[in-house]
Amino acid sequence: MIARLAPSILSADFARLADQIAAVERGGADLLHLDVMDGHFVPNLTIGPMVVRSVSRVTRLPLDVHLMIADPDRYLEAFARAGAAMMSVHVEAAPDLLETVRAVKALGCRAGAVLNPPTPVDALADAAGEVDYIVVMSVHPGFGGQAFLPESESKVRAVRALLDAAGNREAPVEIDGGIDLTNAGRVVRAGVSIVVAGAAIFEDPDPEGATRRLRAAVMAGAA
Ligand code: DX5
Ligand code: ZN
Repeated sequence: MIARLAPSILSADFARLADQIAAVERGGADLLHLDVMDGHFVPNLTIGPMVVRSVSRVTRLPLDVHLMIADPDRYLEAFARAGAAMMSVHVEAAPDLLETVRAVKALGCRAGAVLNPPTPVDALADAAGEVDYIVVMSVHPGFGGQAFLPESESKVRAVRALLDAAGNREAPVEIDGGIDLTNAGRVVRAGVSIVVAGAAIFEDPDPEGATRRLRAAVMAGAA
């Protein structure tokens, strides 16, 4: 199995963003995770398409854009134009998930669906055959640096089983929140193939080295 590491810039220093992205690139990052928050769906505000576009100009890494916003359909095109390679929408924010997934794909991006910790896996039943990936939130979304919720591990297994049962074996399970060296290998063994990490990388004085160490733990889990 292949597993990939996606540093989340939420915990980066935004005044030195290009340097910080270059550091995780040197450390072997596979993707770059960008958290879009609207102060409404989640109690925090972050970035919009302008910053996504600027980031796309300073990196060759595919951009994994995580939309924590109400009414995501309104903004899909703007984020696609800004350079998103992957775009995920919350099940809780999409009134017609399947329609949103199809719209993301029609824009030429990989389409992901995200589950908040309290949201049951069967909320994805209708979309499981068509999504390109599923994101399991292992913290309540809104802030970096929170503790990993241990029940997320069994949820990963259930999501993996749902995708397999829908004949969507190639679609990765991504995990987002509270990942560090102590749990990265374990979640990969449970079925994760995209690991997001923010604080564990950017709170480290050496983001390049932190990326390298975490990626090694992810790879060891996948071996
Ligand atoms: C949380 C965000 C995460 C966050 C993860 O709402 O979706 O992507 O950056 O950060 P850590 O790894 O610090 O939990
Ligand atoms: Zn995220």
